[in-house]
Amino acid sequence: MIFRLSDFHFPDSAARLYPATPGRPWVLEVGFGDGRFWPHHAATFPEAPNYLGVELSGVSLLKAERRLRAAGLANAVLTKLPALPLIREVVPEGALDALVVNFPDPWPKAGHEEHRLLRAPFFRLAASRLKPGGAVLLTTDHDEYFEFACREAEASGVMRTERTGTPPAALETKYALKWRDLGLGANHARFVPTRHPHVPHGTIARYPDPEDSPAVPHAILTLPPHFDPTAFHKQTARGGQTREDAAGWTVVLLDLCRSLKQDGWVMLAHVVEGELTQEVLIGITAREDGRHLVRLSRFGGPIITPGVKAAVGAVTDWLAGQGAQVTHRGY
Ligand SMILES: C[S@@+](CC[C@H](N)C(=O)[O-])C[C@H]1O[C@@H](n2cnc3c(N)ncnc32)[C@H](O)[C@@H]1O
Repeated sequence: MIFRLSDFHFPDSAARLYPATPGRPWVLEVGFGDGRFWPHHAATFPEAPNYLGVELSGVSLLKAERRLRAAGLANAVLTKLPALPLIREVVPEGALDALVVNFPDPWPKAGHEEHRLLRAPFFRLAASRLKPGGAVLLTTDHDEYFEFACREAEASGVMRTERTGTPPAALETKYALKWRDLGLGANHARFVPTRHPHVPHGTIARYPDPEDSPAVPHAILTLPPHFDPTAFHKQTARGGQTREDAAGWTVVLLDLCRSLKQDGWVMLAHVVEGELTQEVLIGITAREDGRHLVRLSRFGGPIITPGVKAAVGAVTDWLAGQGAQVTHRGY
């Protein structure tokens, strides 16, 4: 089953995601590609564990979904997202039996190590989300990345590294077959938590029901008598770096469009928070009392994050700069 970010709860639970099989082991695979690992690996268990797969490529997502459906793996959830926000916000602490990474992108050029997934912060996050006895399983053809990952695991201070034989299913993936055809081998390591640090979830929430809930980021204001929407120009705001390691947010207000159906406008905003990017719509609509409501629209399934609240704030601030009197800020 394919889930969008807005289909998840923050954090979610095995009981909600796999209602028919909540008690089974739970495995997460990062970067599943065309999905060959899981049908092979699941077949080595008496009953297929619950599976959560995360992948950046939409084409791969659809191929993998077809493959898992053909294999009859009903207790599998696939999503097209970057791995870190999914693991941090969706997976509860101490929930996973295994976190699998097969042939991660190696980012081989000097100076590109910061793009690699298996760095110390990833290992600390993984250790917090794994059950006692769980492990991160890494298979890669790339010797230099393998040694890098082992050093980063050590540097995380929460992992013990066991260099072991590669699970047979990890040698059946598209990339495994590609490297095997070239005569190359694969390295494998199990990273076992030595402790389970507390890595908190962020302050993120689902879009509430109903739409007029006060929990939807909004503001109420009175527009100036000669409000000129054509004065709008694309603009960028940054903030939210409350801790040194926090990603912070960047909000780009892209365009302001007239609504043909409602008396008002719609702002298109681009919100970036670390690896997570959302395109959101923020309505500016007339109320019966003559004031205007600035409110995050449900369209597109936005998740309410600090950056999305900041986007509603940026629209409100722009309108205030145009002479609007803000009477309420609900974000
Ligand atoms: C080299 S391919 C390996 C694919 C598959 N595991 C295999 O062995 O055939 C790496 C995959 O990881 C995915 N990927 C890279 N960074 C990711 C991230 N941050 N979150 C989720 N997937 C990611 C890429 O889209 C790509 O499909």
